Amino acid sequence: MVDISKCEMTRYPAPVLRQQAKPVVEIDDSIRKLVEKMTDLMIEFKGVGFAAPQAGVGLRMFIVSLSGTRDHVRVYLNPTVTLEGELEEAEEGCLSVPGVWAKIRRYKKVIVTATDLDGRQFTEEVEGMHARCVQHEYDHIEGTLIVNRMSQTAKIANRRQLKKLVEANEV
Ligand code: NI
Repeated sequence: MVDISKCEMTRYPAPVLRQQAKPVVEIDDSIRKLVEKMTDLMIEFKGVGFAAPQAGVGLRMFIVSLSGTRDHVRVYLNPTVTLEGELEEAEEGCLSVPGVWAKIRRYKKVIVTATDLDGRQFTEEVEGMHARCVQHEYDHIEGTLIVNRMSQTAKIANRRQLKKLVEANEV
């Protein structure tokens, strides 16, 4: 069971963001509540996707809503992804690494298989922005952040902000 009252926006370099998340074993009320909480945080911080570790929960689940609205939220539980096509570079940010932007190379297309909140398995082929978003969120459940994927040049360009985040999260 996930304790929703303990869920909060989690930022780099929090350990939960750098660990491989564990599979969702049962879709119970706490998982449904967690999806609501993740949706609230995504909307509050103006994102288009959100992974459970960003709410402090190490579970393999994320949501995507390309419009950034509640209506278009798609839930992916225990997803697997197959990367397809060519690589494409585009500027990316992350709600858990605020103020940091970097060009990240992603595949143009992915095939993703996951379970929805009703326990139904689905497979979809997505491209462009949706494919980028799925790869970004999938990275989160593998404990990978844009910080791990950005070039040395981007790291140098963002070093002040990264340092700030490290200091802000030191207690
Ligand atoms: Ni992110």
